[in-house]
Amino acid sequence: MTITKKLFIVANWKCNKTVGEAESWIKEIGNWKLEIGDLQNLEIILCAPFTLLYPLKTLITNYKLPITLGAQDISPFPDGAYTGEISARMLKDLGVEYVMIGHSERRKYFAETDQILTNKVRESLEQNLVPIFCVNDAQTPIPDGVKILLYEPSFAIGSGKAGDPNEVNEIAKKLKERLGENGIVLYGGSVNSENMSLFLNLEYIDGIGVGSASLDPQKFLEIVKNAS
Ligand code: PGA
Repeated sequence: MTITKKLFIVANWKCNKTVGEAESWIKEIGNWKLEIGDLQNLEIILCAPFTLLYPLKTLITNYKLPITLGAQDISPFPDGAYTGEISARMLKDLGVEYVMIGHSERRKYFAETDQILTNKVRESLEQNLVPIFCVNDAQTPIPDGVKILLYEPSFAIGSGKAGDPNEVNEIAKKLKERLGENGIVLYGGSVNSENMSLFLNLEYIDGIGVGSASLDPQKFLEIVKNAS
């Protein structure tokens, strides 16, 4: 693919993989540097469950992989009496650089409101974590300070039916206008190695979010190869 702009690939493992399974994934992908070309224009972000962040950091360092760690969620509060929560400071300490906020599954199953999401963005920015804010459409409220949006229409998530590229481009255009200068908009929802170029070639799209196709190391490797 010959695209000159910087591209983002955001893998979202969702609630999948034990430590041993994460280790196998990294090992299988460990040879990829020999197989793929120039990665300079690519930012590969792996958003893993909290339990895997620490072992993944070590594995990524040991294998010298060009992968940046992301979390899938964050506490809307700082450290303190919030049982069960993981704060921005804890994530920062693990070497996490990005955090997904407001994924439609969090909004749907965990009743995350716009106010909660605004607080999560505030917490992440206070620790210099970059929020990847997920939106379902062009109208979703976007908290202040957000620079990266992941547009994922609900119907396309996990359905095998990706969005129509022309419609995606139209919505991405509107989202970019809302973000202002240097805003980044990614598309996610049933992206795989076959349809990814339809989205990466769009004028207003800067990258892709990959759920199910990121779980299998060979499928993910294919995606990285196609984008590089
Ligand atoms: P999918 O998930 O690639 O399995 O559709 C995308 C996402 O929810 O981030």
